[in-house]
Amino acid sequence: MNQPSATPPPENPNPFPGTSCLGPIIRLAEVDSTNRYLLDAARAGEASGTVVVADHQSAGRGRLGRTWEAPAGASLLMSVLLRPEIAPDITIASVHLLTMAAGLAMADAVEAVAGFAPILKWPNDLLVGDRKLCGMLTESEITDGALRCVVVGIGVNVQWSDFPAELVETATACNLVSGRDISRDELLEEFVERYSVLLNDLNSVLSDYRERLGTLNTRVRIELAGEAFEGIAEGVTDDGSLEVRTDGGALRCITAGDVVHLRPV
Ligand code: BTN
Repeated sequence: MNQPSATPPPENPNPFPGTSCLGPIIRLAEVDSTNRYLLDAARAGEASGTVVVADHQSAGRGRLGRTWEAPAGASLLMSVLLRPEIAPDITIASVHLLTMAAGLAMADAVEAVAGFAPILKWPNDLLVGDRKLCGMLTESEITDGALRCVVVGIGVNVQWSDFPAELVETATACNLVSGRDISRDELLEEFVERYSVLLNDLNSVLSDYRERLGTLNTRVRIELAGEAFEGIAEGVTDDGSLEVRTDGGALRCITAGDVVHLRPV
């Protein structure tokens, strides 16, 4: 008869087990939004780890109710479906780690493929100087107080020839920074590899994110609905909020809103 093991198995540090291997990858020429597509697919039973990539979105979703637009073939437009497997209260509290991990993984993937290191801006943008390279939108499905699934949506400007007037001052793309053509497929492959590793052990994500967040110790302008103020970004709380010391000396905790780096990092 087998004796009980003397040492208990190590605790699983991953609140989203089963996500260590991402895939399948579903490729679409055209969709309204990869996030919308994958949330609907999740409701119909799509498996955790599924990745959807589109050449073009007709109604791409951005943060704070905005749209996200890119010409066909210019950006890596993708979403990843993750399903929680443990107690809902723990998983709900952990959702921000999934987006932070995606930011870290994409920053490293860009560096590996395009040869430059973008800056992380709170909450989950990648910048080059003060220009935006990548944005992320995480959407969750919660029913009866339980987290059913999380869709992490990512848009990276990869291969752009020029930007429309509304983006020309604020956006950049991998090819424009590196001075050569960059492959969306290579970037996807590098990202999936790195994200899979981080999802398998989220323990160090928060500290890595804090360490690499260009927003910290930077003078920022915070733009909220109906209010804006300036201060120094001092910290990120365990739940992912940004702590900003206002010019009046108060410490304000920002959970949603726009951040502008007032000095390029
Ligand atoms: C932001 O506003 O910065 C977030 C933008 C997120 C855009 C990506 S593109 C792929 C995925 N599908 C969507 O509809 N949105 C995200």
